[in-house]
Amino acid sequence: MSKVRIYTLAKDLGVENAKMLELLDGLGVSYKSVSSTIEEETVELIKEMLAEEAAQEGGAAAPQTAATQAATPDAEQDAPTGTPAAAPAQADVSEVPHRAPVVTIMGHVDHGKTSLLDYIRKTKVAAKEAGGITQHVGAFEAQTSKGKIVFIDTPGHEAFTTIRARGANVADIAIIVIAADDSLMPQTREAIAHAQAANVPMLIAINKVDLPQADPDRVKTDLTQLNLVPEEYGGDLVVVPVSAKTGEGVEDLLEYISLTAELEDLRADPKGTFGGVIIEGKVDKQAGVLATVMVQEGTLHVSDFLVVGESYGKIKAMTDSNGNRIKEAGPSTPVQVLGFSEVPSSGEKVQSARNEHAAREIVAQRADERRDAENARVQRRLTLEEMMGP
Ligand code: GTP
Ligand code: MG
Repeated sequence: MSKVRIYTLAKDLGVENAKMLELLDGLGVSYKSVSSTIEEETVELIKEMLAEEAAQEGGAAAPQTAATQAATPDAEQDAPTGTPAAAPAQADVSEVPHRAPVVTIMGHVDHGKTSLLDYIRKTKVAAKEAGGITQHVGAFEAQTSKGKIVFIDTPGHEAFTTIRARGANVADIAIIVIAADDSLMPQTREAIAHAQAANVPMLIAINKVDLPQADPDRVKTDLTQLNLVPEEYGGDLVVVPVSAKTGEGVEDLLEYISLTAELEDLRADPKGTFGGVIIEGKVDKQAGVLATVMVQEGTLHVSDFLVVGESYGKIKAMTDSNGNRIKEAGPSTPVQVLGFSEVPSSGEKVQSARNEHAAREIVAQRADERRDAENARVQRRLTLEEMMGP
């Protein structure tokens, strides 16, 4: 009996993964992710359902199979009679455009994180050197056959945790790199714990599979010990064998990232209020203060005023991750910004202000709030001392 992965079937039949999951839900078939496999019988049922839907296109809702009715008893009441239009409540969300996923790479020392990113960058980023502030940007965009993917390229989980400690979640997906000749090491476990604590979907890349001493099976078994069960062992953990040296498996990894992102249904409004996070800040001897900002919502423009903590600045210049000067940047775009007066730290939230006056206002208000909070703290301590008596 042959089994087929959900996303493969979706691709073959030319439907979205989300649609496929909807049909499976309707049939009451359980699955863990789009990479779960389903039985041939189910495949046949899905094909029938799609055929029926196609036949009824434009007409009344497709008649439900017995299995569908059993699994979703309320479906009949919910189904609009005669009008196949989408539920109005969902209209708002679906109008917000999708955005590219932001991916962080974590793992033990020397397991090949940088090499893997380098390989992706080399093959997927058309690096154009432009004049101006060409500096290493702590994040880069890769164009893949599945669309844009943004990778955060800061050293390991240090950045991930500092950013998260400030309450900002930048990464949508975490990739844990594990060397096939070394298996799970202390920092691998740490990285896994960080991804789990952040509730970020996690993919495992078993790297260095080109080495003769590579033992990917051992890595999978070791993962099982942590209650992380790879798909081929019946679990839901996606494990992709790769080699940053030969490039083997890298395309698969990118595909899995896209699939995971699709399920997360990541959206952001380029026309909305700007919101972003500092990935890293530094001082360049020639250019001055440079900061890598991840645009999360809205659009950033040259000449905008940015507020970070209790300081603000006007964007004098902006470059994308290829070093090209750009005038504006939408959601899920890492940009390097020139114009901050103080060096911002990783994880600080960035707001924009209409003009310098508004920026100053925000900064002044924040300073007031901080002083108030400090005074309140002192007050509380004094009261406590009074209560304790002499
Ligand atoms: P840190 O940043 O120090 O934590 O290390 P890292 O995880 O970024 O590892 P890095 O990419 O620097 O790779 C460490 C070593 O492994 C280098 O010598 C790489 O050339 C080598 N290496 C990385 N990936 C592969 C691979 O797929 N195959 C082989 N054979 N060697 C690899
Ligand atoms: Mg490295």
